[in-house]
Amino acid sequence: MSVDLSNKVFAAITAVGGYIPQNKRTNFDLEQVCDTSDEWIIKRTGIKERRILEEELATSDMAVRAIQDLVSQFGKNLQDVDAILVATSTPDMPMPATANIIADKLNIKTAWAFDINAACSGFLYALDMGASLVETGRYKNVLIVGADNISTYVDIHDRSTNILFGDGAGVVWLEPSKEGGVIDALLQSNGSGRDFLNIEAGGSLYPLDRPDVDITDKMYLKQDGKTVFKHAVQSMSDACLNVLKRNNLTVDDVNWLVPHQANQRIIDAVGRSINIAEGKTLSNIEYLGNTIAATIPLCIWENLKQIKTGDLVMLTAFGAGFSWGASLFRWMI
Ligand code: ACO
Repeated sequence: MSVDLSNKVFAAITAVGGYIPQNKRTNFDLEQVCDTSDEWIIKRTGIKERRILEEELATSDMAVRAIQDLVSQFGKNLQDVDAILVATSTPDMPMPATANIIADKLNIKTAWAFDINAACSGFLYALDMGASLVETGRYKNVLIVGADNISTYVDIHDRSTNILFGDGAGVVWLEPSKEGGVIDALLQSNGSGRDFLNIEAGGSLYPLDRPDVDITDKMYLKQDGKTVFKHAVQSMSDACLNVLKRNNLTVDDVNWLVPHQANQRIIDAVGRSINIAEGKTLSNIEYLGNTIAATIPLCIWENLKQIKTGDLVMLTAFGAGFSWGASLFRWMI
């Protein structure tokens, strides 16, 4: 029995915004605080610099500026917003959700608002949840934010992490469309990967006042870079190929691949593995580094002029959890 899609309501991205902090942390800055070099970092990661948020500001401040950018570029009315989903691993505080704080700072009274923590896969997870809300017909305008102030959790002296991460925020606006929008998403997780990439302290296992453990050490992001690298390439490649296959599409149908920006070598390896044509993969890692949940919306934001109406866009991400996935949508702006 074939399914009648003629009445299907898609969730389409109809506006995009972004914010990156002013302060730069270059490879030369890192040479001053640990045993590394500009040459090594560029060769092994593709990164030259990252942006660092001012100390007195927080994740919500970047998200607010990204949303204000969206409003000024696309003329949207924030009083139309029905729901705000914020993908972040670095909320302003454990409670309330950063989404609530953002809504308050923007004086949005109409929306329910909550956070999603899926690390670097957060934007993919939030996009699919937001799309599902729109597809029900009950919600017409949904904001999907990816924002992280990860520099707060990076030990500036640890060369296994300080070379990779930076701060930023990106946002997309979802609305119903009869013509097209989000087509599919394949999202997965495996919690046995938690030992390879984590920030241990600050939760219920290692609260900040636990006297019997060295909390300072556990407050920073730790990773086994090699293990993460290997899983990232395999998982993102598999997710991309599987989501294409189950939609009877091939990689040649894809106009743009927007991968999570963790390491240029991971981006290149995924591209090779799925055999996507040169020039179709978007990257901004060179000057932003890994901004966690913000990499994908920021990459879209920076390439708005290139992406044309009707283009097929594939997103893919991998992050702590492990969490990963791929999603497909038709660009409707
Ligand atoms: N500067 C200079 N030398 C270094 C540095 C550095 N920053 N780091 C390691 N080295 C040295 C090592 O000591 C080693 O030297 P040796 O050969 O003499 O023993 C050599 O360089 C190679 O070290 P590796 O650890 O094998 O370096 P690798 O090529 O794996 O690069 C990196 C390390 C960049 C961390 C890489 O493994 C990586 O990007 N992994 C993925 C990480 C990732 O994606 N994390 C985020 C996931 S998203 C989220 O959810 C947060």
